[in-house]
Parts: sequence; C-alpha cells; structure tokens
Amino acid sequence: MDLKSLIRNIPDFPKPGILFRDITTLLQDPQGLRYTIDCLTEKCRPLSPDYILGMESRGFLFGMPLAYQLEVGFIPIRKPKKLPAAVYRAEYELEYGTDCLEMHQDAISSGHRVLIVDDLIATGGTAKATAELVQQAGATVAGFCFVVELTGLKGRKQLPDVPVISLLQYD
Ligand code: PRP
Ligand code: ADE
Repeated sequence: MDLKSLIRNIPDFPKPGILFRDITTLLQDPQGLRYTIDCLTEKCRPLSPDYILGMESRGFLFGMPLAYQLEVGFIPIRKPKKLPAAVYRAEYELEYGTDCLEMHQDAISSGHRVLIVDDLIATGGTAKATAELVQQAGATVAGFCFVVELTGLKGRKQLPDVPVISLLQYD
C-alpha cells in the first residue's frame, strides 16, 4: 500500500520554511490506518518490549494501538504539568521551538525494556528527551519506532545505539 499518498504535505506550517507532514489524512483512511498499525506491529514485535512509551500527542495515536497489538502496557509521556503523580522531566528542542516532557516516576524501573513510539522523527529532540526519561528511571530503551522519518534532519544520530524503525522516509 502506498502510505505516502495518504500523508498530506502542508508548506509553511506551523512556521515559514517548515514542510508539515500531516498524518491526519492517514488516520482517516480505514485501510491505511489498519495497514500502518499492522506494519508497526510486525516490525516491533521482535524487540519484545515490556512497555510502549508514546509521546503527547501524536505518539499516543500510534503507540496505544501498537501496545494493544503487542499485548503490553502503554505509558504516556506528557507535556509539562499534565501528569498528577511525581514525575521525571526532560527538556528538548523541536524543529520549531523548545519544550519539556514528563513521565510518572513509578511507571517503569530498572529491568524494564521499553519501546519509544511517535508519529514522526524530525530533529530527534523529542525522542532523545524521552530516552533520557527512561534513563532517569533506570530502565532500558529497547528501540524507537516512528511512522515518518525526516532523514535530512539526521534525528536518529541523536539517539542511543538501539534499533530505530521508521515506516516512511522523507529527505
Ligand atoms: C511533533 C511530532 C514529534 C516531534 C518530532 O510533535 O509529533 O513528537 O514533533 O520533532 P523532533 O524530532 O524535532 O523532536 P509536537 O511537539 O509538534 O507535538 P504534537 O504531537 O502535540 O503535535
Ligand atoms: N514535527 C516536527 N517537524 C514536523 C514536520 N515537518 N511535520 C510534521 N510534524 C513535525
């Protein structure tokens, strides 16, 4: 299936010079959605994670169904001040700004292997910050999984030396 044809390209969003890869059109397509989740499941199953970590907000859209398919738990990585219990915190830079991510301190601990899932990797800042949260908890990153990789930004160079899976690559 041609998944790229289901991703809409919007120039100059949210800022001039950014070519936004819009996955809402993929999510809306029943066959495209099913095929995407099936592909992610097949590619990620061999990593045998204990948990899936998904980043707010678009990481939730793919991380949750993947966790369901792999029959493991899902842990939300959230923007600041959204999680109610004690959190670890990591700051990061975006392709268009800076932000901060948090994870509940009691979500994972030493001995857990987790798979970090997001819709897209651009500079890699979001994924790197999430890996730092895993490290703060003393757990292990089993791998990373993205639907879209913007290869020209070389985001995967920021990540630790573990498997990095992406379904679609754009230069
Ligand atoms: C987008 C995207 C990734 C991140 C990738 O999220 O969903 O999480 O940017 O960029 P990076 O590799 O340069 O860090 P965004 O922060 O725009 O939030 P959203 O998911 O709530 O739209
Ligand atoms: N997140 C960071 N960069 C992005 C892009 N170019 N398209 C969609 N989401 C993004």
